[in-house]
Amino acid sequence: MKIAIIGGGPAGLYSAILLKKQRPQAEITVYERNRADDTFGFGVVFSDATLDNFEKYDAPSYRRITQEFAYWDDIAVHFRGTVHRVGGNGFCGCSRRMLLLILQERARELGVSLQFEADIEDESRFADADLVVLADGSNSRFRDKYVEHFQPEVDLRSNVFAWMGSTRPLDAFTFIFQETEWGPFIAHAYQYEAGRSTWIFETDPATFKRAGLEGLSEKQSADRMADIFGWFLEGHPLLTNRSMWRNFPMIRSKRWVKDKMVLLGDAKATAHFSIGSGTKLAMEDAIALAEAMHRAPTVEAALQQYEHGRREEVEKTQHAADVSLVWFEHVDRFWDFDPVQFAFGVMTRAKAITYDNLTLRAPEFVREVDKAFAKQVRAHGINVDVEKPVAPMFQPLRLREMTLANRAVVSPMCMYSAQEGVPGDFHLVHYGSRAIGGAGLIFTEMTCVSRDARITPGCTGLWNDGQQAAWRRIVDFVHANSAAKIALQLGHAGRKGATKLMWDGMDRPLEAGGWDVVSASPIPYFPDSQVPREMDRAAMDKVKANFVAAAERGEACGFDMLELHAAHGYLLASFISPLTNQRTDAYGGSLQGRLRFPLEVFEALRAVWPAHKPMSVRISATDWAEGGITGDDAVEIARAFAEAGVDLVDVSTGQTVRDAQPIYGRMFQTPFSEQVRNEARVATMCVGNITTSDQVNTILAAGRADLVALGRPHLVDPAFTLRAAAWYGAEVACPPQYLPGKEQIFRNSVRDRQDFEDLKIKAKPKTRAELKAEATKPLAAE
Ligand SMILES: Cc1cc2nc3c(=O)[nH]c(=O)nc-3n(C[C@H](O)[C@H](O)[C@H](O)COP(=O)(O)OP(=O)(O)OC[C@H]3O[C@@H](n4cnc5c(N)ncnc54)[C@H](O)[C@@H]3O)c2cc1C
Ligand SMILES: Cc1cc2nc3c(=O)[nH]c(=O)nc-3n(C[C@H](O)[C@H](O)[C@H](O)COP(=O)(O)O)c2cc1C
Repeated sequence: MKIAIIGGGPAGLYSAILLKKQRPQAEITVYERNRADDTFGFGVVFSDATLDNFEKYDAPSYRRITQEFAYWDDIAVHFRGTVHRVGGNGFCGCSRRMLLLILQERARELGVSLQFEADIEDESRFADADLVVLADGSNSRFRDKYVEHFQPEVDLRSNVFAWMGSTRPLDAFTFIFQETEWGPFIAHAYQYEAGRSTWIFETDPATFKRAGLEGLSEKQSADRMADIFGWFLEGHPLLTNRSMWRNFPMIRSKRWVKDKMVLLGDAKATAHFSIGSGTKLAMEDAIALAEAMHRAPTVEAALQQYEHGRREEVEKTQHAADVSLVWFEHVDRFWDFDPVQFAFGVMTRAKAITYDNLTLRAPEFVREVDKAFAKQVRAHGINVDVEKPVAPMFQPLRLREMTLANRAVVSPMCMYSAQEGVPGDFHLVHYGSRAIGGAGLIFTEMTCVSRDARITPGCTGLWNDGQQAAWRRIVDFVHANSAAKIALQLGHAGRKGATKLMWDGMDRPLEAGGWDVVSASPIPYFPDSQVPREMDRAAMDKVKANFVAAAERGEACGFDMLELHAAHGYLLASFISPLTNQRTDAYGGSLQGRLRFPLEVFEALRAVWPAHKPMSVRISATDWAEGGITGDDAVEIARAFAEAGVDLVDVSTGQTVRDAQPIYGRMFQTPFSEQVRNEARVATMCVGNITTSDQVNTILAAGRADLVALGRPHLVDPAFTLRAAAWYGAEVACPPQYLPGKEQIFRNSVRDRQDFEDLKIKAKPKTRAELKAEATKPLAAE
């Protein structure tokens, strides 16, 4: 077998090694345009988990790599004169040059032919090869040559960065967030060998410009960075090596394989340097390719296996890298945060590290985070314990004169079980049990302001006395038997009205017994849905009056809070999104025009809703569709509602159009809440695939939301909050009838938590830094 590998970086060399081990008879050649010891770049970093993989696949290169590595365990965050250190991270670094020399040596040893200064222009010279590996880096010539086939998407990110080095020793992976007269600069730095550290400097384009960095030489840039970070460098120089400022290319390719050619490493996909995974991905690609070549009967089948088997893992890493790079791009959102909360945000930005996880590794740090959070609550006028604070989930929140006992919320969820809009026994038990379960706030399902405002025939309403009495019974029960507050969500279905119950076909039009539907524009939801009537001014007046009448009834029921539903493609949302609003009058066009009617409804509600009671609005912060609402629009929408008197923005997403492309995942809507909260400076509630109290605490402590709503988790566990309170040892209200149960779970949780933590600590493998420290410890005297 003949294998040609274009590119002698980590992907090319490691694949050569693994393939040659597997097929000693194969003729394998690596073509690299640089010289063997070209010293491009400084250090690379790997996690302990990645090294375990290398050990398994090629022990000799693993041993040589680990002999050369610098290990560290801590991450240090420097911000506004403070430094926060968190241990237990397990990283190691080595010079890129050393890594490549080790891989070259190992490849040669195995009989791979290495051809340096061989710049490959045309792959046709490998017509007789059975496999051509394209490991030619992020600017891959061959990916671009077959651009139509590979369909790469190259997203040049907005921040600029430069990769430099220094002789400054470092004992932790170090982030420095530096305020300057021009704006924020960030340094990502780590040591990779004795007396050598990597320094990646990053800033936003406006700061870059203001600082006069445009057009400077590498040396001049390094001098400027040395001025800015001089206080930390302690006289150590900054070193350059092709250290020009550039924008990070986030690359994704639709296809990785063409005939017998396969893309590997940065050529197919990149991951932002802030999670330090580029070299890891490149080498793990090589492992995946070798595995596929071992298992599959033909090269063609192996390449298919490689692409199908590997894509999900790569996309997961890319997603984590995306989340991380967006955090760094928007660091200004957190610039006025308390330093410890800021550091917590840095640590937890990419989802893998959480509140509970940090509590195990760095309990003192988390205690400081809790204290800072409690101090903020106290600054809002609630007298909480700031010396021994409870976890953020159990800190109270005040909105106008309503005080919530904790930050866990039951998200609004239609039960599709009402008769002519009247909530029945099912609803009493449903809302009642969730209130007893300990959540601070319970939302009603979308309650419709008129008969023809309903989504389905099973939706609740609040347009007549019977419905009012039924809701009053539920509100009274909640108030009499729990400490929970209850908010009424009012809505109008718009073009998604007259549809079937969820379990009969969500959003599908009713076959019989429907009613006429209205919307901002006459565009049906499904092609076969009812075409809605475009609302004229008279229809708007009528709907507005219905909302006002329902709010007045809501007040008569005793609800504590009112939410206007302007999300998920229902009537008010259909005005806000340009995908569903194509009006040419004053209620269409610009965002300001599209917001006019929803704001008018909100203002009419605010006028009748008692001034001491809070109001929220639910928005879809993105339509997940081309040409639709984006996060930046959501900030403007939130600002407009805040000016009109909203106390909380309930940040949901999507459900506007059928062909949306949402990106699901854990806590997938939280980034929008974070953006709205910290750019529009308004309190937010986040929601969406948040399933654990650990996630709730992580989100709150990092300042990404003020309240956290859980929908589906509450459907199966009404006592979600009570259980979490037991776990964290926080107080939670409970009716006297249930006290024995509460006492038991609180007692057991102390032991369960201790067992869990012991298990976690025992199960955690020692980091290489810990192993190294143990190995070098002098033996204790007998
Ligand atoms: C600022 C910055 C910091 C980074 N920090 C880290 C980090 O801390 N940890 C980490 O793991 N990764 C890091 N990376 C990423 C890492 O450098 C790359 O992801 C990794 O090197 C990818 O390996 P590769 O083999 O796919 O590509 P490369 O390392 O780019 O190798 C491609 C090779 O192909 C050669 N080549 C290209 N075209 C041709 C041709 N036509 N003919 C012959 N040869 C050719 C090139 O000369 C090059 O040697 C960082 C990247 C950047 C930009
Ligand atoms: C059965 C069901 C009904 C829902 N009904 C409503 C509703 O009436 N109003 C609303 O704003 N959101 C509604 N939602 C959306 C939820 O409030 C929540 O935003 C969504 O389920 C995501 O959160 P989760 O992942 O915690 O479930 C509903 C969700 C479910 C599962």
